[in-house]
Amino acid sequence: MNDCLALCATHTPTPPNGHWMANLVTSLCCVVLAAVVVAYAQRRSQLVGRNQYEKMGSDVTMQCGSLDNNTSVTWKVNGTDVKAQHKLEGPRLVLTKVDSSHNGLYSCFQNPHGERRDSINLRIGIPPQELAITCRSNTYPKGFYCTWQQLHPTFIPTTFEVDVQHNQRSLEVQEDRFHKNRCHVRFPEVFSIFPYQVNVTAVNALGKASTTILFEESNIVKPDPPENVKAIPVRNNPRRLEVSWNSPSTWPDINSFPLKYFLRYRPLIRDQWQHVELSDSTSHTITDAYAGKEYIIQVAAKDTEIGTWSDWSVAVHATTWIEEITCTTEVEPVIPAETSPSSIPSSKAPQKAEPPVGRAARVLTFFSPLLLGMLLLCFM
Ligand SMILES: *[C@@H]1O[C@H](CO)[C@@H](O)[C@H](O)[C@H]1NC(C)=O
Ligand SMILES: *[C@@H]1O[C@H](CO)[C@@H](O)[C@H](O)[C@H]1NC(C)=O
Ligand SMILES: *[C@@H]1O[C@H](CO)[C@@H](O)[C@H](O)[C@H]1NC(C)=O
Ligand SMILES: *[C@@H]1O[C@H](CO)[C@@H](O)[C@H](O)[C@H]1NC(C)=O
Repeated sequence: MNDCLALCATHTPTPPNGHWMANLVTSLCCVVLAAVVVAYAQRRSQLVGRNQYEKMGSDVTMQCGSLDNNTSVTWKVNGTDVKAQHKLEGPRLVLTKVDSSHNGLYSCFQNPHGERRDSINLRIGIPPQELAITCRSNTYPKGFYCTWQQLHPTFIPTTFEVDVQHNQRSLEVQEDRFHKNRCHVRFPEVFSIFPYQVNVTAVNALGKASTTILFEESNIVKPDPPENVKAIPVRNNPRRLEVSWNSPSTWPDINSFPLKYFLRYRPLIRDQWQHVELSDSTSHTITDAYAGKEYIIQVAAKDTEIGTWSDWSVAVHATTWIEEITCTTEVEPVIPAETSPSSIPSSKAPQKAEPPVGRAARVLTFFSPLLLGMLLLCFM
């Protein structure tokens, strides 16, 4: 078989003296190979079946190949008898009011010998309906992207065609490499007064449906959240946290199209956020925090002139600086830890302890030499 393939593929040039035997072998080989390929394709299509898509709730007729009206056949679904309500009309099987339970591989066998004549993969679905489309520019003024979602499932393969119109001309639409329901468009110009019209048509074997949205450039601008947000305590200043961040890396030209920022923060144990709006700065010092409290901090970004605020950045946590401990009873339970640190499992002790002790324990590890001196002073 492999020799055959090789012969067929290389088209052995005719030897000058006409080695007709060689040619004959080649030709025969090719004929056999072709026959095998055809047979295989037929068998495969019978095993997998050709697809037949039908609308949910309709009556469905499946025709067994191209057999005559007066041939008698037997139908099976998934290899067993058809149990759903049905009618036989010669070589046709008729199912009434189909739903998803009728999906399956239907095969027909000609009586009386039972040769398989056809296989149909019946798929019940519905035609596409209206879509939900949203468009957004996180790369202003380069371009925007649109995403869409079917509000009703169709149950069968559905594809989408996108048409974008601006000032009476069609814009080039680029498919997204990773998201099936997303596409990208470049702004043909900046500060355009003409609206954009995005028309997405969903198409499947049972029908098509178009949805159109209309928007202006300035309304869809929404940057990605700021990145790399950091918050650090300020030494000797228990009410401060220094917060810094980077502008979103997707924003192409921060100098010509500056962003402003919105910072929010709250102690972990409270629900109330505090807000600060900042123009064009990528750092801020919180000055009204509570000493020794863990804070949760997030930042959002927005173009200074148009569009809407980004989503919040990933939350960062930071605890304000804590004053060094004085000699109170709070410290005492922790003293053994200082004298023999290995006796406390480090993963458990601080977190599970009472909050003051936990804090003391944490400070202890930071200031242990200092503390040792203080303790010596205390006990003297
Ligand atoms: C086969 O039968 C159907 C209905 O049973 C009829 O409409 C059709 O004309 C028939 N075809 C032939 C070729 O007789
Ligand atoms: C089908 O019917 C036609 C006439 O109605 C007849 O000539 C033909 O032989 C029949 N075929 C079979 C397979 O019974
Ligand atoms: C046939 O098999 C498919 C997949 O295994 C299953 O989803 C379907 O419900 C079956 N159809 C019937 C009519 O049993
Ligand atoms: C949307 O596109 C479809 C398919 O190209 C077209 O039939 C329909 O008229 C378009 N709708 C609008 C509002 O342009």
